[in-house]
Amino acid sequence: MSGCRLCGGVVEEFLDLGPQPLPDAFLSPDDPAGIAAEFFHRLAVGRCGTCTVVQLTDEIPREQVFHHDYPYRSASGSSAMREHFTRTALGFVETELSTADPFFVEIGCNDGTLLRTGAESGIRHRGFEPSGGVAKIARERGVRVRTEFFEESTAAAVREAEGPADMIYSSDTISQIPYTASLLRGVDALLSPGGVFVFEDPYLRDMVEKTSFDQICNERFYLFSVRSVQAMAERFGFELVDAVQLPTYGGGLRYTLARAGARRPAPSVARLLAQEVAQGLAESAGLQRFASSVTGIRDDLVGLLRSLREDGRTVVGYGATAKSATVTNFCGIGPDLVPYVCDTTPAKQHLLTPGMHIPVKPPAAFSDPYPDYALLFAWNHAEEIMAKEQRFREAGGRWIVYVPEVRVI
Ligand code: SAM
Ligand code: TMP
Ligand code: ZN
Repeated sequence: MSGCRLCGGVVEEFLDLGPQPLPDAFLSPDDPAGIAAEFFHRLAVGRCGTCTVVQLTDEIPREQVFHHDYPYRSASGSSAMREHFTRTALGFVETELSTADPFFVEIGCNDGTLLRTGAESGIRHRGFEPSGGVAKIARERGVRVRTEFFEESTAAAVREAEGPADMIYSSDTISQIPYTASLLRGVDALLSPGGVFVFEDPYLRDMVEKTSFDQICNERFYLFSVRSVQAMAERFGFELVDAVQLPTYGGGLRYTLARAGARRPAPSVARLLAQEVAQGLAESAGLQRFASSVTGIRDDLVGLLRSLREDGRTVVGYGATAKSATVTNFCGIGPDLVPYVCDTTPAKQHLLTPGMHIPVKPPAAFSDPYPDYALLFAWNHAEEIMAKEQRFREAGGRWIVYVPEVRVI
C-alpha cells in the first residue's frame, strides 16, 4: 500500500471488499478468451491518518477504465438525472455564466447531456472526455469535446488556445481522479482569476449513514467530505466557498472552489463541517462501525436470496449499475441467485456483468410475466423506477432493497 494520494500520510485500511473487477468492464458471452482474461483488483478502502481523506488503497491505471468502449452514458439512465443536468446548466447560464462571452469547461462531459444545454444557449464551451465512444456522441450533439484526460498539461493547452475559463464544472468524475495535484494545477492554469470550480460527487456522510458501500468501486478513488475537500483545496491555493447537499448520486454534495480569498464562503461550509466533526465522520471508530454494518448487509442479502430460491421464487436484478458490481462480487451473487439483470444502457445489453457474469437484458425483458422479486441495484433512482414500474407491483411483484438495510417492499 502506498501513502495518501493527497498528503503522503499513512492510509489506514478499514474495509476490504475482496477481489473485484472493473465495474464497467462488461464481457461478451461470445468471447471466452476475454472472459478468461478478466482481471480483478483487490478493492480496499482506508482513511489517511493525517488529512483524513477516504481513498482506495490501490490505484488502477486510468486507461484500463476510461477507454473507447467505456459504456456508462449519462443520458441512457434516469430522466430525473437528465432534468438535473438541464436545470444545472440553465442555472449556471443565469449566474456564473451571465457575463459577456463567458467560457465554460466540463471535466468528464460523457455524452454531452449537460454541455449540450450550454451549447444550445450559445455558450462558448469545451468538454474533456477521454472515453472515445461517449465523446463521439457528445460531438454529434454539437458539443465541443477534446477526447483526452483533464490534467495539468491538457488544461494548460486549452488555456493557451481558448483563454481562461469562467467556470469549470464536473459531475461524478473528480472522485474518480486520483492524480489530484495534476488536476488542481490544471484548474489553476485554466480558471480565470474570479472563476469557480464546481464539482458534484457522492458524499461520504451519506455513504456512512446509509451503509451504501456500493459507492465504493475500483473506478472511484476518493469518497469526499467537506473536510477532505477543504484540505485538498487549501493545498493548491483554493478555498472551499460553498457546499450544497444533493439528492442525486445516492446522496451527493456540490462543492464550489474559488481562488483563496476571492469569495466569501457561504455559511453552509462551516455548518456542514461542524456537523461532520460532531458526527465523527472520517474518524476511525465510525468507519470501523460502517465496515461491520457492511458485513451484516451481505449476510442478510445473501440469506434472503437463498431462502427465496429454496422457496422457488424468481428474482431478477434491476439496473446493471457500477454499484451492482461491488455488491454482487462482494456477496458472491451470480446467475444462480439472480439469473439476469435489466438495464437501459445499450452498451451493457446482451453482455455479462463484470466478475459474476450475470446476463444483462434490455428493459423489455422486465415485463409480464414478471419475476416475483426485483433486486433494485439502481436504488439511487428508486422513486423514478418504482413510479415507472407500477405494473410490476400490481402484478404482485416486490422490490428487494439493501440500502440502508435489506428489506422487501
Ligand atoms: N459527468 C457525467 C455524469 O455525471 O453523468 C459522467 C460521469 S462518469 C461516472 C465519469 C466520466 O468521467 C466518464 O465519462 C470518464 O470517461 C470521465 N473521466 C475520467 N477521468 C477523466 C479526466 N481526467 N478528465 C476528464 N474526464 C474524465
Ligand atoms: P447510475 O446509478 O450510475 O446512474 O447508473 C444507473 C444504471 O441503471 C445505468 O446502467 C442505467 C440503469 N437504469 C435502468 O436500467 N433503468 C432505469 O430506470 C434507470 C433510472 C437506470
Ligand atoms: Zn492525507
